[in-house]
Amino acid sequence: MNDDDELCLCFHVTRRKVIQYIRVRQPRRPSELSQCYGAGTGCGWCRPFLKRLLDQEQAGSLSHDEENLPTPEEYARQRSAYRQQGG
Ligand code: FES
Repeated sequence: MNDDDELCLCFHVTRRKVIQYIRVRQPRRPSELSQCYGAGTGCGWCRPFLKRLLDQEQAGSLSHDEENLPTPEEYARQRSAYRQQGG
């Protein structure tokens, strides 16, 4: 996944937008990321990934390699399965 891929598929919030929000607003809790275009307030699938990004940014260790996100296709596929389970 790269910066222009959507991290929150429900609200079409890209990874870049989330990272910018974290760097500028410096939220303390993952729930505050909901103020970034509503990220995480839909199906909930992306919340663990939002939390991971926030944790890594707070630790000062954010990089493409470290966060280990799936490809956009795999990410969307996993979300689809998550939603079918009623998540
Ligand atoms: S993918 Fe972010 S809330 Fe559904």
